[in-house]
Amino acid sequence: MNKTGDHNNKLVDRRIKNKEDTSFDVEIEVDRDVLLNIEQIANGVFSPLEGFMNESDFTSCVKKMRLSNGLVWPLPIVASIPKTKHDEIKKKNAKKSGLFYNGKLQAVLAIEDTYKLDKKSTAKKIFNTDDMHHPGVRKWVSQEDYLIGGKIKQVVPMKYEFPGHMFTPSETRQIFKDHGWKTVCGFQTRNVPHRGHENLQRIALKECDGLFIQPLIGWKKSGDFKPEAIIKAYNALIENYYSASRILLGTLSTAMFYAGPKEAIFHAIIRKNFGCTHFIVGRDHAGVSKNGKDYYETDEACRIFEDIEHEIGIKTIRIDTVYHYNIEEDEIVESLEGLDRNKYRKVSGSTVRELLQKNSSMSHGLIRPEVAKVLSRDDIIK
Ligand code: ADX
Repeated sequence: MNKTGDHNNKLVDRRIKNKEDTSFDVEIEVDRDVLLNIEQIANGVFSPLEGFMNESDFTSCVKKMRLSNGLVWPLPIVASIPKTKHDEIKKKNAKKSGLFYNGKLQAVLAIEDTYKLDKKSTAKKIFNTDDMHHPGVRKWVSQEDYLIGGKIKQVVPMKYEFPGHMFTPSETRQIFKDHGWKTVCGFQTRNVPHRGHENLQRIALKECDGLFIQPLIGWKKSGDFKPEAIIKAYNALIENYYSASRILLGTLSTAMFYAGPKEAIFHAIIRKNFGCTHFIVGRDHAGVSKNGKDYYETDEACRIFEDIEHEIGIKTIRIDTVYHYNIEEDEIVESLEGLDRNKYRKVSGSTVRELLQKNSSMSHGLIRPEVAKVLSRDDIIK
């Protein structure tokens, strides 16, 4: 781990170099989430992490949103194993484990420890709820019963779904430089772009030289948009509404947690690693709701940065405005004061998905027509 006590700009590189030893004493088959995170650790997206969390980092992260060395790190990056594997490691006194995906060696992990995962109590700390309706909680408790910690070395780079939109942090840093962008704002999203997103992006473009739009394409809950839908929708938006020379569209291959404010910090650290100087946080960032009731407060993700931003090394642009659109006209407003409330609806990804599911037409105040045109209900994850 980085011991300097702050999030500096140094990128971790855990990709194996020629002739490095790839031997191991125990085999572990990992799932797709771990596979994606191997890639993110290896190319520095999760800097300063060099591997999957050992017990002391995990406990500290879950309790204090910090690694054991004190660095801000709000969400656990872990690899789970069944009890039988834990027992095998103990019995063999194994020092290194080969991490396999679909039977193919992906990385070697230098085992620091294996430890029992208390799913329910850690879920409560991570998500501020242990409600099984919360998609992040449900996923968290579906893991195996033990975790394995240690630094990794990646053996083969991952294959990407959208090669034209995949960049490592060293690549984006170089691209930003080549463009002459001194300031770049990162934009996290899991949705196709609606007018609320566009408003935030326009604010970012006023403040910064470039905008790095980075849809997350790892695991997402059912009802969210498929990655290919997000890419085609953004291509339509950029082509028709943006000056393409100021935008970079890249993907982020890691899972959603739906952990609201904590995930906003996680997303900001990641964008800092990609070389962004700014990060935009809107209303209910990475939030989720049950029966229309949000698990996190609308401005919570913005507020959490107040005391912590200076430690991370990226400037946040925080906008907790709840935008509404006029269902009859091409109009979007920041406040409903003095307006006929019956004519307005909240601009949100859920509204877009709901109307798409019903095959209803969508107001230009909610979504640009060129974007709506490329979408259908098949673009939603079942
Ligand atoms: S998220 O899970 O990735 O946060 P989404 O893609 O909808 O979901 O949001 C991307 C960013 O836009 C987040 O910072 C979020 O807070 C912000 N945002 C989303 N919808 C709105 C909206 N209607 N008004 C203002 N900000 C929004």
